[in-house]
Amino acid sequence: MSNIRNIVILTGAGISAESGIDTFRGAGGLWENHRVEDVATPEAFARDPELVLRFYDMRREAIQQKRPNAAHEALARLDREWGGDLLIVTQNVDDLHERAGARRVLHMHGEHLNAWCLACDSRSPWRGPLVDRPECPACGERALRPDIVWFGEMPYRMDEIYDALREADLFVSIGTSGAVYPAAGFVRDARELGLRTLELNLEPSQGSAWFHESRLGAATEIVPHWVDEILSG
Ligand code: APR
Repeated sequence: MSNIRNIVILTGAGISAESGIDTFRGAGGLWENHRVEDVATPEAFARDPELVLRFYDMRREAIQQKRPNAAHEALARLDREWGGDLLIVTQNVDDLHERAGARRVLHMHGEHLNAWCLACDSRSPWRGPLVDRPECPACGERALRPDIVWFGEMPYRMDEIYDALREADLFVSIGTSGAVYPAAGFVRDARELGLRTLELNLEPSQGSAWFHESRLGAATEIVPHWVDEILSG
């Protein structure tokens, strides 16, 4: 690991699981309470905006009661102390990386704590409900939706992610099942670019075979251990 300068880290729901936020595909996972098609698609929002807005209002409120765990804190420490480039690309829409102190974070699937105005295309920090169709802080229109990338929509800032992968020496995937693209394909891009690849996950992901190394365990245990290791060179 000593010749590592630039790192790209991908995180998924598994890094927030021990903070009490449901993963998507685990037993009793989030989607089991709602069929994905009923909430996380533009068609669902067009068909039943109230249901979708209530679902996300509930999630937005729930995450504000949660706290970062030792894995988020370890990545924040790495962000503070790592001298080279570092980018935490998260599929998660909670703010636990930021609340742990991480700065170099990119939310490719959006964020619960933002609202997106379909009238003026602006994004505003947002902590309250959207179901009562409040006015957009920028334009005053009652056209706010969750700033979440739904199935069938393009993830955010993909160019920045691929630019970071092209400059990186190490790609680390933490707490993701490797079930949803394009994030699930980053390990293959990393291999093609000649990066070293490491997976830290509770169980082998669908992309495990693509990683040079796979460490299995709970994020709050194996992530701090890995951060200690890489910071000690
Ligand atoms: N520590 C480490 N890994 C864990 C833990 C834990 N405590 N708990 C669960 N995991 C692992 C699971 O083994 C699984 O591989 O985290 C992964 C969670 O996978 P998913 O629930 O599929 O979540 P994720 O990979 O983030 O989903 C990707 O799918 O539904 C869409 O947009 C949504 O961003 C999400 C995307």
